[in-house]
Amino acid sequence: MRVLVVGSGGREHALVWKISQSPALTHLFAAPGGVGMSDLATCLPDIGVNDTDAIVALCKKELVDLVVVGPEDPLANGLADTLREAGFAVFGPSAYAAQLEASKRFSKEFMERHQIPTAEFKSFSDLEAASAYVRQLAGPCVVKADGLAAGKGVVVCDGDDATQTALEGLQEIMGDRRFGDAGSEVVIEELLLGEELSFYAISDGERIVNLTGAQDHKRALDGDQGENTGGMGAYSPAPVLTAEVERRIIRDVVEPTILGMRDEGEPFVGVLFVGLMITEDGTPKVIEFNVRFGDPETQPLMTRLESDFLPLLEAAANGTLAEDTELVWGEAAVCVVLASAGYPRSYETGKLITGIEDAETDNAVTVFHAGTKAGASGGIETSGGRVLGVTACGASVREAHDRAYAAASKIHFDGVQLRRDIAHRALDA
Ligand code: AMP
Ligand code: GLY
Repeated sequence: MRVLVVGSGGREHALVWKISQSPALTHLFAAPGGVGMSDLATCLPDIGVNDTDAIVALCKKELVDLVVVGPEDPLANGLADTLREAGFAVFGPSAYAAQLEASKRFSKEFMERHQIPTAEFKSFSDLEAASAYVRQLAGPCVVKADGLAAGKGVVVCDGDDATQTALEGLQEIMGDRRFGDAGSEVVIEELLLGEELSFYAISDGERIVNLTGAQDHKRALDGDQGENTGGMGAYSPAPVLTAEVERRIIRDVVEPTILGMRDEGEPFVGVLFVGLMITEDGTPKVIEFNVRFGDPETQPLMTRLESDFLPLLEAAANGTLAEDTELVWGEAAVCVVLASAGYPRSYETGKLITGIEDAETDNAVTVFHAGTKAGASGGIETSGGRVLGVTACGASVREAHDRAYAAASKIHFDGVQLRRDIAHRALDA
């Protein structure tokens, strides 16, 4: 099978890494790909994830059998629709179905229609009205830009200054347009309490194969302090995903979502990534839907997965998913993100990175590249906010954690920023 992965981040590196091990693979392309995956796939650095015409042309020229779309942007822009119209098999949802992620309002209204448990909410397109609502609430809430904002358009407002925080968040999102048009509408919702979990399921639009869960660390600083980021580390399995919690997630969230999309005539093909709050009494409530793999959760998921992944992606894309597919998972994996100083705000790039090879001398460790480039001197340099995802597997979360941090300590670049407490919930449990 000739496969194209669209994207260039740590998630795509992990997907490329996993797909490249499949006996069913004959050739792997990545557009644009990146320096970290260049020994696993033919990278096409001139083809960006939103260069739809160039991607279609590439698929025609290279007789690609399957396209796996990594990021949400091209999905929301209709890349999967265009490729399907051109006759290609695609792992990834239509632009319509991608609204589950691309519009918070769409996803909240969908959940309301299908009685999927989630936080109470109201949406606004007017700053004054939104501010008045926040003043009236006079308590904790969460303010979210409606559109895509790379995981950063969310302000959690809690404590004595909740109202003030919410008003400032609204000003930043709707007034200053920090996230551009993504902030022309906002959703203001109930603050959920409990433990967060990411859960993944694959669908061909009709049938479902559930993967497993992972826990992400979204805040920039240790102890879940600081700003929301795209994710500073992740691990799997998370102890909060007990068999009972998993059963409820599948029954109350995954199945009604996939079947709801099908019944609305817009079948969901690809991976449904559910961001959940598991409340104190074990009730899963949806925080958000995503329509692609998580980043950095995919890094531990792919390192944990022992089964061949490519046939599953192909079956989902071709509408032939077998619901009795049994997947074999290794015990545990942990990913620690090394980020640029200043991330998630502004940061410098072009810092020389050393120690990656040294970190990978441990066979259990893989260093996934998120924001790197080939430097002029022949070395590898930073080129993004999140730079590397140092990922290790192990017989326990503790072992994977220790290996990941030992490997991370061998890698250096100017201003490297990392959290020291990735997987702490599993280690404390
Ligand atoms: P989102 O981009 O919607 O996943 O939100 C980013 C982060 O904000 C989540 O991972 C949670 O930590 C937090 N968050 C979002 N919505 C809520 C909510 N309703 N209650 C509590 N925390 C939330
Ligand atoms: N790590 C969270 C995300 O991919 O949205």
